[in-house]
Amino acid sequence: MTVARNCGKRDFLTLLDFSAEELAAIVQRARSLKQDPSPKTLTGKTGVAMFEMKSTRTRVAFEAGMAQLGGHMVMLSHQDSQLGRGEPVEDTARVLSGMVDVIVIRTGNQAQIEQLAETASIPVINAMSTRYHPCQLLADVQTYEELRGSITGATVAFVGDGYNMCHSYINAARQWGFNLKVASPEGYRPDPELVKSCNNVQLVETPQEAVEKADLVVTDVWSSMGHEGEQDSRLSVFNGYQITADLLDLASRDTLLMHCLPAHRGEEISEDLLDDPRSVVFEEAGNRLHSQKALLEFVINGGW
Ligand code: CP
Repeated sequence: MTVARNCGKRDFLTLLDFSAEELAAIVQRARSLKQDPSPKTLTGKTGVAMFEMKSTRTRVAFEAGMAQLGGHMVMLSHQDSQLGRGEPVEDTARVLSGMVDVIVIRTGNQAQIEQLAETASIPVINAMSTRYHPCQLLADVQTYEELRGSITGATVAFVGDGYNMCHSYINAARQWGFNLKVASPEGYRPDPELVKSCNNVQLVETPQEAVEKADLVVTDVWSSMGHEGEQDSRLSVFNGYQITADLLDLASRDTLLMHCLPAHRGEEISEDLLDDPRSVVFEEAGNRLHSQKALLEFVINGGW
């Protein structure tokens, strides 16, 4: 698929920053990069990746992906950058815009990502914030479509914390046209305004109701990064929201189970379920590499 070049820079802060056609093209390109992993489409290009919070998959996918495409990613931890010592984000944005071709950032401060994108003259990619995790959804959709065909019209269940992954699933439901049922305990439901923005999202009362006949079942940890201090209280609030084999049996016969990882076995997912034949979590994790490479090509080169 050919996507027209857009003259302005393209930030990827949420899935809504791209059109449905552009997202489909990125997923398609990710599938082709999986077959042919090292076309040198980003030779001479450089990026900087700033991670204020810990990461394995996202960080490695961006660093390895950039290298495989012929470019170079400078990895900058928060404590090693002047941003971590209080240099204004606007100054950081202007400086980096004169040096590299893309900024990748993971931070607990959503406003900081938005300020960075507003000031930078180069694309900014959200590598996960407190509000969204759009890169993960590219890999999730890629994984589903590789195994089951188009996700449009499918029924997806999200069970657990209505936080950044759930918010990105809501945006994904809108962009890819699938039906999303969300089961979260009271006080941990997704942003109601976001839910209202998407006609094909339904909040349901129980995990059983969400999972029934679902083509894809998704969960995430109950205490995301930044909420570790609430671990004990959340264990009791989320009691009953664990994905178990019995719960998964309510889904469609060929359902898939996804989790963005890292998982807390015995909490949001029962001890052995990641190894269940319905689980595709490691395929999903592997696709982070291919989808983030396609994303880098898209924002740096403006299309294919
Ligand atoms: N799923 C995910 O974003 O993993 P990392 O935190 O390891 O990057």
